[in-house]
Amino acid sequence: MIGVGSDHGGFELKGHIIEHLKSKGIEFKDFGVYNEDSVDYPDCAKPVCSAVLNGECECGILICGTGIGISMAANKFKGIRAALCGDVFSAKMAKEHNNANIICLGGRVTGSELAKMIVDTYLEATFQGGRHAERVKKIHEIENM
Ligand code: RB5
Repeated sequence: MIGVGSDHGGFELKGHIIEHLKSKGIEFKDFGVYNEDSVDYPDCAKPVCSAVLNGECECGILICGTGIGISMAANKFKGIRAALCGDVFSAKMAKEHNNANIICLGGRVTGSELAKMIVDTYLEATFQGGRHAERVKKIHEIENM
């Protein structure tokens, strides 16, 4: 199960991503928002991050206008590794090296076709572990400082 969420700036792209997931038969849960009324992106990050942290979703896709604010907010949740990706290489590395459990997109930055490729690449990639696992562990050690 993939958790999907956005603010108003990411609403339109969220729709495209949801249609794409549906077309591929990938299970998802849409955590909103459900219209383009102005909202605060930290509030939109929260339900998807909680669902990833409590195991309801194995990973998440968060979208705001740039992807910046929502990734900043998501990364404040202990245990979340949110990667803002605007290209396919970063999406692959976000999973292979960083084991990102959330991918973030900029709805006003990244076109829908590229965004779909980014999502596919992220979902199809596999964490490589090894030295990368050590580095990821060090990220979470920072949370306890
Ligand atoms: C909302 O206008 C916009 O600031 C938000 O979607 C996002 O881009 C913030 O980083």
